[in-house]
Amino acid sequence: MKKTLLRLKTALVIDLNNKGYTIKLGNDDVLIELNQFVGDRYADNNVFILCDSNTTEHCLPKIDWLDLEHLKDAEVLEVEPGEGSKSIEIYYQLIESLLELGANRKSVLINLGGGIVSDLGGFVASTFKRGIDFINVPTTLLAMVDASIGGKNGVNAGGVKNQIGTFSEPVGVFISYVFLETLPKKEINSGFGEMIKHLLISDKQALSKLDQLHSIVKIDDIAKSVAIKLRITQEDFTESGARKALNYGHTFGHAVESYLLSKGVSITHGEAVLMGMLMENQLSVELGRMSQSEKQSTENWVYAKFDLKSYFKQLEVAEVIRLLQFDKKNEGDLVSFSLVGPIGNCAIDVRPEKTIVESVLSMFCN
Ligand SMILES: NC(=O)c1ccc[n+]([C@@H]2O[C@H](COP(=O)([O-])OP(=O)(O)OC[C@H]3O[C@@H](n4cnc5c(N)ncnc54)[C@H](O)[C@@H]3O)[C@@H](O)[C@H]2O)c1
Repeated sequence: MKKTLLRLKTALVIDLNNKGYTIKLGNDDVLIELNQFVGDRYADNNVFILCDSNTTEHCLPKIDWLDLEHLKDAEVLEVEPGEGSKSIEIYYQLIESLLELGANRKSVLINLGGGIVSDLGGFVASTFKRGIDFINVPTTLLAMVDASIGGKNGVNAGGVKNQIGTFSEPVGVFISYVFLETLPKKEINSGFGEMIKHLLISDKQALSKLDQLHSIVKIDDIAKSVAIKLRITQEDFTESGARKALNYGHTFGHAVESYLLSKGVSITHGEAVLMGMLMENQLSVELGRMSQSEKQSTENWVYAKFDLKSYFKQLEVAEVIRLLQFDKKNEGDLVSFSLVGPIGNCAIDVRPEKTIVESVLSMFCN
C-alpha cells in the first residue's frame, strides 16, 4: 500500500545557540529531521533506541511507518515501564547489552519515551565508556516540557528518587507532538503538573492563565514551557542558584511520590508535584511569602481539576518526614525548599524550622 504523508509546516525550531544543541518541536516532520540528524552525524556508527514496552508498542511504529533510512536498522533496547526501571540494576543490564551489541564511543543512544526512559538512557549514555552521544525523543507531555530538557539524568536508589546521576546534555531533543495521540489522559495531566509549575514560578499572571493552559494541549504552550525550562537551566546548568526554582513542588513532591510508590499506589510524577506545590504553598503562607488568597485560589483550581485528595489521605506524616531527609538539596539538619510567593516569584534555599514543616504536612494528611 502506498503511504501518503500529510505534513503541516509548523515545525518550530528553538536553538540553544551557545550550548550547541538543537531542540525541534512540531509534528512528524520532526522525526524526519531526526532521521537527517542521525544520518549526518552517525551514518557509519551503531544507533540504539531505548524504549519502554509502551513506547515500543505505541511510538516506535510511528517511526517505522515513516520508513526512515537512518533509523530503521537501529537496535532497540526495551525496559519495563515505571519507576522500577530507573534503577542501578536496569542501568547495569543496559550497559551489558550495549557491550554485547558492540556499542563504541561513537555510537548514539536515542531515548524514545517519557522521563523514565530519558533519565535512565541519559545516565547510561553519559557514563558508558565515559560518555557517548544521546538524543531525547520525548513521548509524554511531561518529558516534552521538562524531563528531556536540561541535562539531568539518573536513577533512584534506596527507595529514594534520583540519588545517582549526572548532569549531561543530549546532542539533540526532537519533540513530536504526534506521540501524544496515544498518551493516556492521566499522563497528559501529569505533564500539566510541570507546565503549571513553570507558570507559577515565572509568571505573575499565572492564575489567570491556568484554565486556558489546562483546556487542551497546545503546541504554543509546549513551546512556552520548554522556553522557561531552557532559560532557567541555561542560566544555571549545575543548579547552584536559579535552577533551584524548578524544584518548587518537588521537595514534598518527591517524598510523597517515593512513599506512595513504595506502597504500590500508582501516582504520576506530575500529580506528586502538584501535591508538593499545594503543600509548599501552605508553607509559603506560614512564612509570610504567599498571600492566603493566592494560595486558596491555586488550591481551589487544582482540586477542581485533579483528583489528589485520595492520595493525601494515604500519606503517613512520619514516613514522609523521613523521606524528606534524603532530599539532595538539604544542608545540615534542615530541609531546603524552593517556595513560590508571590506568584511569579520563587525563593530558593528556604529552610523552615522542622516544626513548621511537620505542621504543614499534618494539615494535608488529615
Ligand atoms: N530529568 C529531569 O529534568 C526530569 C524532570 C521531570 C521529571 N523527571 C522524571 O521523569 C519521570 C516521569 O516521567 P513521565 O511522567 O514521562 O513518566 P514515564 O516515563 O513513566 O511515562 C508515563 C507512562 O506513559 C507511557 N508512555 C510514554 N509515552 C507514551 C505514548 N506516547 N503513548 C502511550 N504511552 C506512553 C510510559 O510507558 C509510562 O507507562 C520521573 O522519574 C521523574 O523523576 C525528570
